[in-house]
Amino acid sequence: MRQLIVSLADRSYPILIASGLLARVDLIVEKLSSRHVAIVSNDTVAPLYLKPLSDKLRDAGVKVTEIILADGEKYKNSATLGQIYDALLEARCDRGTTLIALGGGVVGDLAGYAAATYQRGIPFIQIPTTLLSQVDSSVGGKTGINHPLGKNMIGAFWQPQLVLADTDTISTLPGRELSAGLAEIIKYGLIRDAEFLIWLESNVEQLVARDSAALSYAIECSCTNKAEVVAGDERETSKEGGRALLNLGHTFGHAIETGLGYGVWLHGEAVAAGMVMAAELSCRLGWISRDDVSRTAHLLKRAGLPVRGPALGVERYWEMMGHDKKVIAGALRLVLLKHIGEAVTWEGAPKEDVLAAIAACCDG
Ligand code: NAD
Ligand code: GLY
Repeated sequence: MRQLIVSLADRSYPILIASGLLARVDLIVEKLSSRHVAIVSNDTVAPLYLKPLSDKLRDAGVKVTEIILADGEKYKNSATLGQIYDALLEARCDRGTTLIALGGGVVGDLAGYAAATYQRGIPFIQIPTTLLSQVDSSVGGKTGINHPLGKNMIGAFWQPQLVLADTDTISTLPGRELSAGLAEIIKYGLIRDAEFLIWLESNVEQLVARDSAALSYAIECSCTNKAEVVAGDERETSKEGGRALLNLGHTFGHAIETGLGYGVWLHGEAVAAGMVMAAELSCRLGWISRDDVSRTAHLLKRAGLPVRGPALGVERYWEMMGHDKKVIAGALRLVLLKHIGEAVTWEGAPKEDVLAAIAACCDG
């Protein structure tokens, strides 16, 4: 078992990565402050993984309340959040109850926000079951829901007490979802880990083929990168980029997700096309070469990801990007590539260059 630590003083917590971890309820039980947990999952993940987990917890003397949500990004909203609060209240969950998220990033973000807000905050554990959630969303404490006007616009920082990444769960993941996770993995290479990017270029086919050694290494490297960034800038307030750099491609990607309607493109797919747009803009600013843009797109393509955005119209992209959280005092703060392996935040990109980069990377 690999153990990494997210170092946040008295809120530090371990990320455990291994095959078979779902059976290790002892790792959960030792974190509980009372013998009551509420497990939030969805109607795809629950039939696969919930019963054995609940049974083992009950065998260990823990009361288990199960909360099963409808599956999908389009349900990451205030109505679904209300269902979680209703279930917590009906089961008389109190401040000692630990809320466990069992699922991908949608379940994790929803359950985490419920944990942050129910009775002003209750303990929280992440059991991520998608590649994307194991390498990104379960780590770092960003929680929240979407609003019709913008992705992840309502939320809170709420750190889990434990992240339990059972790599066996990747075996049941649809191929498209696997590739979506690879987008966030490739992101770490592009923004801060050139050596990892070279490893990815040599191993991407093994990852697509779900080679377990390759996947474990990629998850560990990704979580190491994410843990370091979060420890350095938990609340994304650094003026030097810090945590904001994790959003490479996300401002463009959020425009795709919001513009098409949530769930049409997967988050990782939108981020992939968005990272190519960010690379294209970085090239137009004279920072990286045309070959670097091609290198970025080629790797993403080999990972089974789209490298061109949908034809929303460039002005629609611009409008959607204006709703992003990276807009501060009206200025659009983009994450761009100074070099391959080094990202920066940048507010000075002229609108014409941004629109030209989008147009160059869109289908129509
Ligand atoms: P997801 O949660 O929608 O899961 C993808 C699909 O896979 C769903 O249909 C889900 O039910 C299914 N699934 C989950 N585990 C499975 C398994 N083991 N086997 C078979 N099917 C399984 O999507 P995601 O890609 O995990 O997460 C995307 C979400 O995460 C977005 O809402 C995004 O905004 C958010 N996100 C948050 C952060 C953060 O820091 N909080 C970071 C990145 C992304
Ligand atoms: N996924 C971006 C972040 O956690 O900050």
